[in-house]
Amino acid sequence: MAGFKLVGIAGSFNRPSKTLALVRHIADLASAQYGFSTTTYDLHDVGPSLGSALWRKDLDDQAAKVIDDIVRADALVVGSPTYKGSYPGLFKHLIDLVEPHELRGKPIIIAATGGGDRHALMVEHQLRPLFGFFMAHTLPTAVYASDRDFSDYAVSSEQLSKRIGDVVGELAAFFPRISPALAAAE
Ligand SMILES: Cc1cc2nc3c(=O)[nH]c(=O)nc-3n(C[C@H](O)[C@H](O)[C@H](O)COP(=O)(O)O)c2cc1C
Repeated sequence: MAGFKLVGIAGSFNRPSKTLALVRHIADLASAQYGFSTTTYDLHDVGPSLGSALWRKDLDDQAAKVIDDIVRADALVVGSPTYKGSYPGLFKHLIDLVEPHELRGKPIIIAATGGGDRHALMVEHQLRPLFGFFMAHTLPTAVYASDRDFSDYAVSSEQLSKRIGDVVGELAAFFPRISPALAAAE
């Protein structure tokens, strides 16, 4: 339905980035099914003021706008690369600048990328509890993708696509689909 806004945030500063590609892929599918207007960001978009900001008021306009968009979104896709078995510190610092009440009840698709499969539970052991703190609605299916799920920074694995389809389907608990045929096909 028109009027709902989905924001994607990738906790990566690399370009090109598998994490940003994954976040965009999920956001595009969600937009096709629910008619969201979508914006996606990575840590480059947040910019250099993040690293030195002790408080939200220390952010420059560029970074403040990203946080404003995150907290005003109707739904979020949050993707993080796996660094040392968890999310990167700079990504956590961005989330640390969000007030506890600002994500309460928000539907959030959690996703991560990693070099291999060994840290696939990073989504369950790191990302889900982080957004549990905020009392957000992390959707039941979490998405983890490793290097071999991508070809040239695009999602290329059938298994991963299926999992993305599953979690996007779970948004139906919060938003009406734009095409009833999509719901009937499930
Ligand atoms: C500092 C650093 C630490 C990493 N640690 C892990 C790790 O613990 N487990 C893992 O599977 N991949 C690890 N990786 C690989 C990245 O998670 C992986 O390449 C990721 O997809 C990069 O995302 P990007 O393309 O969005 O930057 C690490 C990479 C870097 C640079």
